[in-house]
Amino acid sequence: MTTRQGKRKILVTSALPYANGAIHIGHLVEYIQTDIWVRHQKMGGHECYYICADDTHGTPVMLRAEQEGITPEALIERMHAEHLRDFTDFHIAFDNYYSTNSPENRELAQGIYTRLKEDGFIDIRSIEQFYDPVKEMFLPDRYIKGECPRCHATDQYGDACEGCGATYSPTELIDPVSVISGATPVKKHSDHHFFRLGQCRPFLEQWTRHGENGESPLQKEAANKLEEWFEAGLRDWDISRDAPYFGFEIPGAPGKYLYVWLDAPIGYMASFKNLCDRERIDFDAWWRPGGDTELYHFIGKDILYFHALFWPATLHFSGYRTPSKIFVHGFLTVNGQKMSKSRGTFINARTWLKHLDPEYLRYYFAAKLNERIEDLDLNLDDFTARVNSDLIGKYINIASRTAGFIRKSFGGRLAATLDPRDTALLGALQEAAATLRQYYEERRYSEAVRHIMDLADQANAYINEREPWKTIKDPALRARTHQVCSTGINLFRLLTLYLKPILPRLAGQVEDFLNIPPLCWEDAQTLLTGHEIKPYRHLAKRIEARQTEALLEDSRESMGTPSPDTHSPSRHGETQQHTPPPIAETITIDDFARIDLRVARIVAAEHVEGADKLLRLTLDLGGEKRNVFAGIKSKYKPDELVGRHTVMVANLAPRKMRFGISEGMVLAAGPGGKDLWLLQPDEGAQAGMRIK
Ligand code: MSP
Ligand code: ZN
Repeated sequence: MTTRQGKRKILVTSALPYANGAIHIGHLVEYIQTDIWVRHQKMGGHECYYICADDTHGTPVMLRAEQEGITPEALIERMHAEHLRDFTDFHIAFDNYYSTNSPENRELAQGIYTRLKEDGFIDIRSIEQFYDPVKEMFLPDRYIKGECPRCHATDQYGDACEGCGATYSPTELIDPVSVISGATPVKKHSDHHFFRLGQCRPFLEQWTRHGENGESPLQKEAANKLEEWFEAGLRDWDISRDAPYFGFEIPGAPGKYLYVWLDAPIGYMASFKNLCDRERIDFDAWWRPGGDTELYHFIGKDILYFHALFWPATLHFSGYRTPSKIFVHGFLTVNGQKMSKSRGTFINARTWLKHLDPEYLRYYFAAKLNERIEDLDLNLDDFTARVNSDLIGKYINIASRTAGFIRKSFGGRLAATLDPRDTALLGALQEAAATLRQYYEERRYSEAVRHIMDLADQANAYINEREPWKTIKDPALRARTHQVCSTGINLFRLLTLYLKPILPRLAGQVEDFLNIPPLCWEDAQTLLTGHEIKPYRHLAKRIEARQTEALLEDSRESMGTPSPDTHSPSRHGETQQHTPPPIAETITIDDFARIDLRVARIVAAEHVEGADKLLRLTLDLGGEKRNVFAGIKSKYKPDELVGRHTVMVANLAPRKMRFGISEGMVLAAGPGGKDLWLLQPDEGAQAGMRIK
């Protein structure tokens, strides 16, 4: 890495999280990794900005907003607030957290498109795609399901089969259906705008191998992947989508929108532009080619293609600089397996915060992260053991064994001079700063953590040998005890400095206790003598096994079992569950008695205008009638339901939906979609009967 001397100008990004879902601990691998790096840079005195935003455009946001009966703008505003709160609570400190649905992004994205068009990089071609005749829109691959043409597994997505792993185009599916309306899609032609990626190949090959100034901007593994892609040939990239679409319109092409993946990375620039305008930073100096600024993108391995091919090509051919480096990380597994809702390991950031300290996750991720593209595992037993033994047992222990004596016996003041007998250890810790800085710089966090814990072991061994708790009782050894405890506090201060990129909040508390200004890298060169510290208060708590158990339990619960009116198509990444979900937490008979279950007769059933999954049911409870919206349209036709008896929750609080008020819930089994079975009491049960 070409580390420039003196004050560097560094712009850093993390990938922009989609605005249609909550932040989970998988995401946090990336934001924590980046935040540690940024904090390290800032502690080095560099001019460094950390930029991010919500990725707001595209079909999923549009459809989810519709389902909730709100505008996409209202949805993304709510998600933005939730995301920012999650990040803030995990101490991820962006200099700007913006949105891709911003005026800055519109202007930049449309400007870049126009420039590419003028320079002959855009090609317009008619293509044939699946179209939903009921919903009246073209269907993205993920919104088409059908039978796999290879292994004949049913209920597979339009792009790939989860059964046999085959990839195909949606038009190859057998019996395709639109996930949105249930209709059979039809093929239809439309003009699409393509970015001529093939034409960019010579530039991309050069860029991959030598970047802008001789060095590859990619890790070895990533560069190899690109060579494979070059080998296979670069296909032109379809960057337009037809209305209805939530995004930016293409200049001069009414009804055509820029595909979300075109405007998303431009969102990095737009978020920075927004900061520049507020803080009078010269935007152009950071984005024109050949300047003295550095640009780094942290991303997951799943989005390498977008960042290492499309993005540098887009930038270069529209007259902007390209990234200095792209740092790719692997994926998170929990307890050795892919995160799973049924196992309770699909853990949202918010759920984590209810049970465990966010800094413990930061510490554990740091202890496992390196500069390579490897997946990393959060093993919850290992997590508990590691945090307790390293942070509490080693690091915090140093302060808790020395600070009390400084306060009680020496008026809170550190010794005016330190003894030469202690300087070897102090010197060794001070010298470690250079190595640790290098580890952070190169994203070798696990090595940094191991090194810091080695130093903590040495500090503890020092205190064990000096036994200040014994010498304090001997007046003749008073001065020596004062020095030993002061050395202990200095060792603790240095370790705090070294852990600060990982544990910023704890470091802040220590700075307060030590009564010192915020620690930065330069502070490793000095020691504290004759300085007054504040009383020591307990800094951190051990993790108890029951906390991680409760975390898993809560993550299972917060997903719930799929209820007919909340089920949505299984999300990208999680495979369809065929094994039953685990049994929920035990409840008492009294808990159960609070649920008023009744036999209900379906007296009317009808389609709901504009709703893709819902049927409106009129239920008779033996005199009283109820209006209920049930998400069972994918399985049942209205006229096969009328006259049937079923089971409903009669005392559920009414819920306001876009189509009206739902006054209860009918019960059904199964994961949803076509795999759904409405409950029906045995012959003879009468409407209104209580079920106990
Ligand atoms: N919106 C796109 C990125 C656009 S960037 C111009 C996106 N969003 S995402 O929400 O799906 O993911 C955001 C980042 O989190 C990505 O870098 C992704 O790789 C990372 N991760 C999401 N799940 C992850 C794990 N389970 N483990 C590690 N990183 C993960 O992609
Ligand atoms: Zn298959």
